[in-house]
Amino acid sequence: NRPRVFISRRIPEKGYALIASECEIISWNFDDPPPRNEYLSTVKGINGLFCLLTDKIDVELLNEAGPSLQVVSTMSVGYDHIDVMECNKRNILLGYTPGILTNATAELTMALLLATSRRLKEGIRAVQTGEWGTWKPMWLCGPGLDGATVGIVGLGRIGFAIAKCLKPFGVAKIVYSGRSEKEEAKEINAEYKSFDELLKISDFVIACCALTSETKELFNRDAFKKMKPSAVFINSSRGGIVNQDDLYKALESGEIGAAGLDVTSPEPLPVDSPLLKLDNCIVIPHIGSATHSTREAMAVLAARNLLAGLKGLPMPCQLK
Ligand code: GLV
Ligand code: GLV
Repeated sequence: NRPRVFISRRIPEKGYALIASECEIISWNFDDPPPRNEYLSTVKGINGLFCLLTDKIDVELLNEAGPSLQVVSTMSVGYDHIDVMECNKRNILLGYTPGILTNATAELTMALLLATSRRLKEGIRAVQTGEWGTWKPMWLCGPGLDGATVGIVGLGRIGFAIAKCLKPFGVAKIVYSGRSEKEEAKEINAEYKSFDELLKISDFVIACCALTSETKELFNRDAFKKMKPSAVFINSSRGGIVNQDDLYKALESGEIGAAGLDVTSPEPLPVDSPLLKLDNCIVIPHIGSATHSTREAMAVLAARNLLAGLKGLPMPCQLK
């Protein structure tokens, strides 16, 4: 009598094998998601759900699954796609994957920051199109990190790791904002500031906060207005923390200098999005945690959470 588990996508083999050793698996073994109606009919009567951040786990889906559902395990650190309160109400255990993807995400955020500030999109295009005529003293210059003030909005695991990555680049000052001052910030000499003050003084603003009702569209017209005209804005958390129309206007009018986005709203960003026409905006497709080893570790951790939850044992990473 093995528990029935739905795995909603093709996942790294090690995670799959772990689940297969103890469960009866129903799998949507593709990279693209199942259509919603297919998803809804497949979850009927399952005991465990292995899902991704692009799967909306809401009341409708939980109703379709019914009272047999004991565990929802997401292969992500973010959980804004899950109705957590509703799961709690139904005594459905939740697992997620914090920690193991911190370094990969910090690394990607640095890559995006450097690509944006040093104008790699324009540079690569210039080489490919022959627009690169000669070495020009004033061409493709951007702000460097040396001597810069960097503002981190949300000094959680990932924000902290980014701060450490920034150090060797010679930044003058790291400031952060968030709900409260953090003891660990002393280790990296990061100063706590109000959100407004951070926006005002930072040469680089890096968004590292989870998407919640408090952070939804936190980066709006008012926020961009407070930033320096040269400011570089980087987002590798969730698209929903940004008002994208306001960001477009800020970039287009020169209210801020540039933006690098690993996350957008919606995802994928439509190819006719005006953001993609701007030279000072780089958009990449939500690949923060995309290293081979990290994705494997995420699948394994999500599998372990699922198996522990199904047996009523403490999960390695339970969301409470
Ligand atoms: C990625 O965005 C994650 O939440 O793991
Ligand atoms: C969560 O977003 C983290 O900091 O790991």
